[in-house]
Formats: sequence, structure tokens, C-alpha cells
Amino acid sequence: MRRDAPSPSVREREDLQTTAIDAARLAGEVLLEYARTGFHVEYKNAVNLVTDADRRAEQVIVDTIRQAYPDHSVLAEERGMELGRDSPYRWIIDPLDGTTNFAHGFPLYCVSIGVEYRDRMILGVVLDPTRQELFVAADGQGATLNRQPIRVSKSATLETALLVTGFAYDIRESTHNNLDYFSKFCLCARGVRRTGTAALDLCYVAAGRFDGFWEMKLHPWDMAAGSLIVTEAGGCMSDFSGKAFTIYGQEMVASNNLIHRGMLSVLGNPQASI
Ligand code: IPD
Ligand code: CA
Ligand code: CA
Repeated sequence: MRRDAPSPSVREREDLQTTAIDAARLAGEVLLEYARTGFHVEYKNAVNLVTDADRRAEQVIVDTIRQAYPDHSVLAEERGMELGRDSPYRWIIDPLDGTTNFAHGFPLYCVSIGVEYRDRMILGVVLDPTRQELFVAADGQGATLNRQPIRVSKSATLETALLVTGFAYDIRESTHNNLDYFSKFCLCARGVRRTGTAALDLCYVAAGRFDGFWEMKLHPWDMAAGSLIVTEAGGCMSDFSGKAFTIYGQEMVASNNLIHRGMLSVLGNPQASI
């Protein structure tokens, strides 16, 4: 990767954002069309599904990006990494976050598109096509929902907090499966939800609909866009011990800042310095 590339200009950032939103909207239309007319389900394992809607939405997104930026790298869930020609840009794509919901006709899923520049997130776009909710964040520019600025909540204690979590597809094989943390949080928070779409969970923390979110074993495409949307909305991201968050890590805590220390304490790190 070229390290001496200058930072993207305002114009370049606007163009990236336009391309990301266009791609998300096209993919959203694909998902709604498949939801209306039917789709084919394949099984990665007993609980991990993929549909032809996932693959078609991803194709539409990648085609849109390739048309505008043929040299950029692309990391997408269904195809993996495609390296660009010495470009500092990496697009990180989940074409359908919430496949299980989608396959069951439960209308909570989204398209997630993030852009890294020299390994740093600079743009996040998440579209919920069924509600027509578009979350966007650019580094240093704040976060928006349908163009209106959003902020994290002001809940100051776990007792008054609504939390969300999720479970990895190895829940039946691994004992490191989050069920222990889930029962602990159920006993100390106002409520705990499991929506089945991590990218939207992050956006909901950003919008103040959830106060906190933890999960383990997520993938970069689940978190890339949403993590920037959280921090740009004034929220906090870390691992379970309070160390710096990375989308390539195994642990993720997102919160409104105010309950972050309390969440880390339940996750076994009462001394965390955050
Ligand atoms: C899944 C969802 C879910 C999370 C899983 C993810 P997918 O993504 O984000 O909320 O708990 O760990 O794999 O498979 O629907 O794209
Ligand atoms: Ca996902
Ligand atoms: Ca997916």
C-alpha cells in the first residue's frame, strides 16, 4: 500500500460518500425485490445461512465501486479480499447484515459499507431498506440518520440501560459463546435485546435507541461502517478490556460512553482504564 499518498480532499470524500450511498441504495432495492419475489437459501452450517439475495446485492455493490474506483481494494463477506492496485483505500462490505432475519421474513436487516484509508475508517454507510433509514458518518464530520445529526443516549447507569448483543454462528460448538455474559447483563440492565443485525445494532447505539452493545467474534464487515457511526455520534468503542477497538479484533463493546466502564466491569474487567 502506498504510504505517501496525500489525505483525501473534501471533493474526494464527497465522491466516495456519493458512491457508497448509491451502492447501498441499489443493494437495498435488490434485497427488497428478492424479499418480495422469493430467494434461494443455502446452508454454510445448520444456523449460518446465505441466500442468492446476499450474493446479488454484493455483486451490485462491488460493480458500483469498481466502476468509480477500479484500483481500490475490496473486502466483502461473500467474496473475501480483492486487492486493488497499490491503493490506500479499502471498501469493507456486508451486502446483507441480518441474513437469518431476511430468510425468515423478519424485516430487520441492512446493507453496510465502510471505507478505510490507510487502515483508518473514514466513511460509514448503513441502509435499512425496509424502514428507508440511512445512517452515514465521515471521520470528523459527525453522524446522521436521513441527513439529520444523531447522538448517543444519556443513560448514565446500567440499571437504566437498554443493551443489545448477538451470538456467533459457532454458538453450539464453542463454550466461548456469550451466554454467560448474556445472563449477567440480563440481571443488571433494564433490558437486553438480540436483533440479529450487528451493523444496525451499532447504528442504534449511535442514534440513542440502545445505550450499549457488546458482541464477540464479529467480522470486519459487520463492524466497519457502524463503528465509525458510533464514534462520530459521540459514542465509545473498545475491546472487553477497554483497549483500542479494531474491526479486525474478536471483542467489541460500543456504548454511549457513560455506561462503558460498567459494561467492561460485567465483562470481567473492573479495573479497565477507559
Ligand atoms: C450476523 C449478524 C448478527 C451477528 C452475527 C453476524 P450476517 O451477520 O450481524 O447480528 O450476531 O454474528 O454474523 O451473517 O447476518 O451477515
Ligand atoms: Ca454480518
Ligand atoms: Ca452478511
